Amino acid sequence: MTADLSHLDGEARRILRLNDKGGYTVPTAGLYPYQWNWDSAFAGLGFACFDVDRAWSELETLMSGQWENGMVPHILFHRPDPGYFPGADIWGTQDAAGKGAGRVASSGISQPPVAASFAWRIYQRDPEAGAERLRRMFPGLMAFHRWFMAARAESGAVAITHPWEAGRDNAPDWDAAMARISPEGVAPYTRRDTGHVNPRMRPTKEDYDRYIWLVQFGRERGWDDAAIAAESPFRVAEPTLTFTLMRACRDLRLAAGVLGEECAEIDGWIARLEAGAETLWNPETGAYDSYDLRSGQLAGAVSNASFLCWWGGLDDRRSRPTLARILDTARFALPSFDPAHPKFDPLRYWRGPVWGVMNMMAAIGLAEQGLSTEAARIRADTAALITENGFAEYFSPEDGTPAGGATFTWTAAIWLAWASPSAGEV
Ligand code: DGY
Repeated sequence: MTADLSHLDGEARRILRLNDKGGYTVPTAGLYPYQWNWDSAFAGLGFACFDVDRAWSELETLMSGQWENGMVPHILFHRPDPGYFPGADIWGTQDAAGKGAGRVASSGISQPPVAASFAWRIYQRDPEAGAERLRRMFPGLMAFHRWFMAARAESGAVAITHPWEAGRDNAPDWDAAMARISPEGVAPYTRRDTGHVNPRMRPTKEDYDRYIWLVQFGRERGWDDAAIAAESPFRVAEPTLTFTLMRACRDLRLAAGVLGEECAEIDGWIARLEAGAETLWNPETGAYDSYDLRSGQLAGAVSNASFLCWWGGLDDRRSRPTLARILDTARFALPSFDPAHPKFDPLRYWRGPVWGVMNMMAAIGLAEQGLSTEAARIRADTAALITENGFAEYFSPEDGTPAGGATFTWTAAIWLAWASPSAGEV
């Protein structure tokens, strides 16, 4: 008999309402007090389970921060909050190249583009109510993807200009690239994140100095994409952006179909991304990897992003043995980094912990490609983690210890949309 978990559905809805600041949702109060790009798209997916109108307004507020060049920033600073660093003043995007006047204060980089994928899912919840809103959002989503292809996809795979752009801040994937930066000239600063959560669960000071150095580097170039691409010592093509954009393009193509829009440009992007993904394939690890465009080296990193290939729409067979090995070793799937690797750290952010959002995308992709046993395992583990440990930001894959922020928006969202028994078959 399955346990009745409907009280957790209620708790998840309560968390989304709690973190709702009116038109946008913060990832969690305190630690992340603004609107984050992919967190917000996940919030929309969660709201769609009980309030489709609110789901659309989440994405509409996100898109209201879109720059004139098409970029949708990773943070929108709607209202100043002294509890977060680096704030709008440090990013210095007021006069940024490509921003355009009168936009929302924002960071100068983007984040995994899941917005089109979730707009499509929100639309499917109620096509009649959503048709007009999808139609209005479509050109902005096209411009967002076009910007990614022009500004970040010179190798075919999608590159980050800052670790925060991948969403996997301190993943070992870019340790080598980060080590090449000597963070001289970083103005003195006080971290705020470690005042909210245990420093053992967060990036190190060495990483943080380099995060801020890269922010200063972009600001000094007026956030000009071409200048950053030409001059930055840090540029890594990686699987989170590559596969989420590949999926988002496929979903945008479905949207184009119902809206009667042209698909040729989107088809071109998908073909380029599929070819580009090959540059991330690492035959030594048997997994998709990150590729340092400056050194020409693959990182040798097997991460949860490696297993987004199926979400991207690839019928990938080569990664299956590696996934099987990871599922065999981890008590709770999917660890964000290979537990057999010396750099694995079960609590430190993206160097080991399980993240529900990655699990949802990996599992939906696996199920779509017919790998239903693996998909069911990942879903059951995610449900167990949340049931036993609450709606934490992330969890130890060894014993489920909840880590990072609590009452977390995207954990609540993926519960409602996917992990909860009430979500049905997804
Ligand atoms: C942070 O501040 O830790 C975020 O991950 C940056 O977006």
